[in-house]
Amino acid sequence: MNKIILTVFLQLAILSLLFRDALGGTFILKDIRPCENGDISQIKEVRVTPCDKEPCKIPKRSSVLMEVDFIANQNSTKPKLSIEAKITDVYLPFPNLKPDGCNGKNLQCPLLKGKSYTFQYNLEVLPYYPTITALAKWNLTGDDEKDIFCFLAPVSIEPAQS
Ligand SMILES: *[C@@H]1O[C@H](CO)[C@@H](O)[C@H](O)[C@H]1NC(C)=O
Ligand SMILES: *[C@@H]1O[C@H](CO)[C@@H](O)[C@H](O)[C@H]1NC(C)=O
Repeated sequence: MNKIILTVFLQLAILSLLFRDALGGTFILKDIRPCENGDISQIKEVRVTPCDKEPCKIPKRSSVLMEVDFIANQNSTKPKLSIEAKITDVYLPFPNLKPDGCNGKNLQCPLLKGKSYTFQYNLEVLPYYPTITALAKWNLTGDDEKDIFCFLAPVSIEPAQS
């Protein structure tokens, strides 16, 4: 009896996951702002999946795939990632960030100046994140601390879906 209930439960859980992915499309962000003293001309496109309009809503306990098509403005052996949320005038780092730009970001290092790349990052929103709409700052820097890209995009952290 319990086993049957458990099996049905698991199947429903898997179905709802599949369903969510099938429903969640990819959104091309239009609201991309440069960082202070920044330049976003090297960014070709930024996509978020799943997202259907800006600001992208990310429920806690879920994740979104962030993709950035860019042209490298420098050679870089060790690009470094930082992601922060701008809350009023303060920047708070996203917890659990994996800063190594070469590892698991779909980038082949060294980056070569003038070449096109697609950066990918699975942003996880954990249950203890604040429920707010904030500007997220995505900053990838090269060997000499010079920005490869840096932009701000609004995201809305939503309560977990039940
Ligand atoms: C990006 O991050 C680096 C450190 O990782 C920092 O030196 C730089 O100032 C940041 N750039 C911007 C525009 O915030
Ligand atoms: C970047 O690296 C390539 C390949 O190693 C090299 O040919 C080129 O001169 C380098 N460019 C700069 C600006 O350092």
